[in-house]
Amino acid sequence: MADLSVDFCGIKSPNPFWLASAPPANGAEQVLRAFDAGWGGAVWKTLGNPIVNVSSRFGAVDYGLSKVIGFNNIELITDRPLETNLKEIQAVKKRFPKHAVIASLMVETRAEWKELIKRCEDSGADGLELNFGCPHGMCERGMGSSVGQEPAVLTEITSWAKEFATTPVLVKLTPNIGDITEPGAAAVAGRADGLSLINTIKSLVGVDLERLVPVPRVGPWSTNGGYCGPAVKPIALHMVAALARDPRVKIPISGIGGISTWRDAAEFIALGSTSVQVCTAVMVHGYKIIEDLCEGLSNFLDERGMTLAQLRGSAVGNYREWGELDLNYKVVAKIDPKLCIGCQKCYTACLDGAHQCIHTNAGPCRAWHGAPDHGRAPRLEASPAVLHTAPGEPAALRVPVVDEHECIGCNLCALVCPVDGCITMAEVPHEGGTECWNDRVAAGRTKVPGGLWE
Ligand SMILES: Cc1cc2nc3c(=O)[nH]c(=O)nc-3n(C[C@H](O)[C@H](O)[C@H](O)COP(=O)(O)O)c2cc1C
Ligand code: SF4
Ligand code: SF4
Repeated sequence: MADLSVDFCGIKSPNPFWLASAPPANGAEQVLRAFDAGWGGAVWKTLGNPIVNVSSRFGAVDYGLSKVIGFNNIELITDRPLETNLKEIQAVKKRFPKHAVIASLMVETRAEWKELIKRCEDSGADGLELNFGCPHGMCERGMGSSVGQEPAVLTEITSWAKEFATTPVLVKLTPNIGDITEPGAAAVAGRADGLSLINTIKSLVGVDLERLVPVPRVGPWSTNGGYCGPAVKPIALHMVAALARDPRVKIPISGIGGISTWRDAAEFIALGSTSVQVCTAVMVHGYKIIEDLCEGLSNFLDERGMTLAQLRGSAVGNYREWGELDLNYKVVAKIDPKLCIGCQKCYTACLDGAHQCIHTNAGPCRAWHGAPDHGRAPRLEASPAVLHTAPGEPAALRVPVVDEHECIGCNLCALVCPVDGCITMAEVPHEGGTECWNDRVAAGRTKVPGGLWE
């Protein structure tokens, strides 16, 4: 079994999987059960001055048969007394001295930051996470994402924390911003030891059409919440990757956002995360998912003969700006007739949503070939029908045909095909070498035929 232990700017944990600051890390009874189950660390539900929560407070997006692909909340920071939380942090550290317990904090004034940091460190917390990310409720009071959106304020409060803290200080960033590298660099300017991201995305998750009130509903009204869960993973991955490749940001990253499986975690680690945090997946499936997370990541590393440190950041250099991509690289779709079930989904997708170059054998191609400049004559309409009959099957299946010459390699058909591995994208060799848009700009060859000025 691969060694999954991590050292996050001095905070050690037996594996990279931490509970994110949220309901699953709301108190000792929960965190103890989570550590017993195998979690390596926990970022305590954010501590601050007492707040009052509303009811109801969660909403979700379901899609097809999948429940909770996105999750939305209007919950604030902890509503439990500070003294209780601090005693419980102490109790958890006593029973699990080798696990990471990080106190998430959110207060207003310099004096409050000083007091809270001291009390958390006295209780034995291994580190501090400054919550500059919450996009509802607290931001209206000048905290949370309203700090994360103001780089100068973020730098100032981070430097206060660094002045008062003796343990590592992580800054938790909000995704509700145009360029994530700005608050990232601002945190580094304030001498943060690490970054955590993402907190939730400002969202309205839906409308109750009976009452015509957005959800979650609090009596006759609602308000915006913070969005998380599997749906936000692509946004989180992009932000983590952008920070991991920013030369100004040379501090460890704790990746958060939509992590449900070991694969999700491995992707965050490959894009530069040292630890990963999980909230929604635990809320939906419970602490037990940690078994699959650890086993899956460990098996993956063993199979590849890699250490966790080697995986970390291994995909960062392969993320480039669009202008650096090779314009001569080409792939085309290939359909495996043995796997095809003849559903025609690829045909429809290519016809209406891509490049009209998949043809059926059921009749003439429906793409409009009448335009003089169409340039895509139905070259395959005359081709012999491709019929595949599996052994013992009475009827032939309708296997569509790809006109590879016209295929632009967009992937759409492979994405919609319901059969795994039935449509693959094959590389087309070429002799032109590589050339990217930036090369063309450098050579003054940016005109593409058919432009406005011709
Ligand atoms: C109900 C709920 C409460 C949350 N409370 C906090 C909080 O107190 N402090 C904080 O920093 N983040 C809080 N978060 C954000 C999570 O820590 C995490 O950043 C976000 O949910 C993205 O991770 P996920 O996609 O795994 O849920 C909360 C999220 C949810 C769903
Ligand atoms: S890759 Fe795109 S263009 Fe090519 S066949 Fe599939 S859908 Fe059509
Ligand atoms: S979507 Fe896949 S299974 Fe369906 S017809 Fe196309 S290739 Fe066959």
